[in-house]
Amino acid sequence: MNSNVAEMMIAPSLLACNQSCFGEEAERAGRSGADWLHLDIMDGHFVPNISFGPQVVKAIRPLTKLFFDVHLMCSKPEILLESFAKAGADEMIIHVELSEQVPSLIHKIKSLGKKVGLAINPPTAIAAVQPFLEQIDLLLVMTVNPGFGGQEFIPKCLPKIQQAQGWRREKNLSYRISVDGGINDQTAAECARSGADTFVAGTSLFGARSLEAAVKKMREIVNENQPGAGGLEMEGTGA
Ligand code: DX5
Ligand code: ZN
Repeated sequence: MNSNVAEMMIAPSLLACNQSCFGEEAERAGRSGADWLHLDIMDGHFVPNISFGPQVVKAIRPLTKLFFDVHLMCSKPEILLESFAKAGADEMIIHVELSEQVPSLIHKIKSLGKKVGLAINPPTAIAAVQPFLEQIDLLLVMTVNPGFGGQEFIPKCLPKIQQAQGWRREKNLSYRISVDGGINDQTAAECARSGADTFVAGTSLFGARSLEAAVKKMREIVNENQPGAGGLEMEGTGA
């Protein structure tokens, strides 16, 4: 029985929506067949851009049942966690680059009753996340340098996904492995083959003519490309 293999999740990133109508766009995502809505919070300090805050998250919360995956690209997430928790976040992702603050941030997110994600930027070695694997629900492998949508996928990040998947299996853990940045049908397939199970995509999904069709296609592609898919072996019953 392979209990640490996760169901594939598709998470459109609201950053790439038509920002003149967040509400309609959140509803559109809710009707698209996606599983999660990824919400990128940028503070103009941790990353050189500003996006939106808890007020927007609160305003769209009643409009969809999607799981709210809140990605905090912020230097001081501790001052924001409570606001995002109240606004309706289901998970809050902080960055491992905040180094010594990470343990207390994880603790705080858990104490707010939310799922915990840990993100890692392309230049940071994957070893940085190893001490936290037992404590997190999701590892977010950034596949671009964070701050902007529409950037090109960095293939050098693929070995990190493989390492994260190897550790998950060895340690029998169940954290999700998410990828974020430059994810389209082709790069999603590569990430799925490496062990990713959660796919954040802004430009390729919100920019598609039909969000629903784009989500459906990406889901088919990642399912076909997950390790073991299409193989002859079947899981034993383990009984
Ligand atoms: C980048 C953000 C991403 C962004 C991805 O800093 O963390 O979530 O929305 O956008 P695309 O899919 O356009 O690269
Ligand atoms: Zn993100």
